[in-house]
Amino acid sequence: MKNKKVYIETYGCQMNLADSEVVGSLLHDDGYEFTKSLGDADIALVNTCSIRDHAEQRVISRLGEFKRYKSGNPEMVIGVLGCMAERLRTKLLDQLKLVDIVVGPDEYRKLPGLIESAFEGEKGIAVKLSKVENYDDIIPLRTDGVSAWVSVMRGCDKFCTFCVVPYTRGRERSRTLHGVVQEVEQLVQRGFREVTLLGQNVNSYRDDELDFADLLMSVAHIDPKLRVRFTTSHPQDMSDKLIEAIAGHENICAYIHLPVQSGSDRILDLMNRTYTIDHYMKLVEKITSTIPGVALSTDIIAGFPTETDEDHQATLDVIREVRYDGAFMFKYSPRENTKAWNMGDDVPDEVKSQRLTEIINLQRSISLEINKEMIGTTVEVLVEGTSKKSDTEFMGRTDTNKTVVFPEGDYKIGDYITVKIHEANAATLFGHVVTPQGWVDVRIAVEA
Ligand code: SAH
Ligand code: SF4
Ligand code: F3S
Repeated sequence: MKNKKVYIETYGCQMNLADSEVVGSLLHDDGYEFTKSLGDADIALVNTCSIRDHAEQRVISRLGEFKRYKSGNPEMVIGVLGCMAERLRTKLLDQLKLVDIVVGPDEYRKLPGLIESAFEGEKGIAVKLSKVENYDDIIPLRTDGVSAWVSVMRGCDKFCTFCVVPYTRGRERSRTLHGVVQEVEQLVQRGFREVTLLGQNVNSYRDDELDFADLLMSVAHIDPKLRVRFTTSHPQDMSDKLIEAIAGHENICAYIHLPVQSGSDRILDLMNRTYTIDHYMKLVEKITSTIPGVALSTDIIAGFPTETDEDHQATLDVIREVRYDGAFMFKYSPRENTKAWNMGDDVPDEVKSQRLTEIINLQRSISLEINKEMIGTTVEVLVEGTSKKSDTEFMGRTDTNKTVVFPEGDYKIGDYITVKIHEANAATLFGHVVTPQGWVDVRIAVEA
């Protein structure tokens, strides 16, 4: 028994969360224990993100805080994993003296060996990208719960000109359909009620002649009470078959994250997004007419190189026209070695900020309108846990991925309940749990 404790902190997208569970599994099998406290750790790992400069700066300053713990415990091994490890490589060892090991996303199997060597005083780096590594045989180390992330493919071949992912995650490769289905079957047996199938480009999943729609349907058939979600879809790979698969299965959630990035064809072309707004709007029309009540969300970048006010207005127009339920909105951040890096970064920061604010305000007002329309309706909610703000209230999500807060009552985490909505803001719906007797506030029902 090693009796050594590992602490892992994760930044970035859900794929990094899923990878940290793979890392957890590899280290658990090697005899390590885990701690939630950095102060107790013999090994401190940080799984990092490079998507925007800000994401990297946060990790750098966090590593500055790790220094304090290392000076109290000089034997502590510090490791940087994930996309920053892949992007910055030896620079991390050279510039941040406290870092002992650097491991990229395709080399986690080497982690136990590298940690061993680090305890003997040898720094180590493993950052080769692989065309085949997909950790299909590793059962991620998860704590029991309601929702699980399941990574189904890795890497990205799209090469959007602003994006580091193809460089930090390498070529696209998929797990076997059989491997994914087996993992989800085990999750269902352990009591999970929701899975989210993950990939940077999840709808280009392939296992020989089987595509993402086949995978989604196979997973949905495992248990009709299991909610199935997926992210992220690229508009180019959103097939009719996939749209029909979502429409045809009650437990495949009616929610699609479909990043548009910009409303201007000229900018989309410079971004190498491979679709036009006309194509995108036709896709949205097909989705909304085929999947009743579907919710859509998007990603938007403000201030891409050469973006004019006219391009920006076109983005606002798309947001108005689609009426997204929600959006993730970012200021363009130039990333070294991407194609867009060479296009300059000519939109001044104040203009980027101004445009981003306009985008956020517009989206917030639309989200609020859509959510207010829900007042008076009843929705099915999967109970996920206590609400962030109060221990006497619970939260869950609708099939369309809206967060709902409701009072505690005669149900437990993991149950499906019906909630009548009585209040809404742009981010959250508030409601009363419905009992068989009619609409009763559970707080009153319990007191009576
Ligand atoms: N694979 C997904 C998302 C990848 S990253 C997709 O293609 O949609 C998540 C989001 O970060 C992107 O959709 C994009 O909006 C944003 N993003 C990526 N690179 C960026 C950059 N250099 N500056 C600002 N935002 C960026
Ligand atoms: Fe990045 Fe584009 Fe790939 Fe998404 S599809 S990960 S934005 S390169
Ligand atoms: Fe970030 Fe890497 Fe994910 S750059 S968004 S952690 S794939």
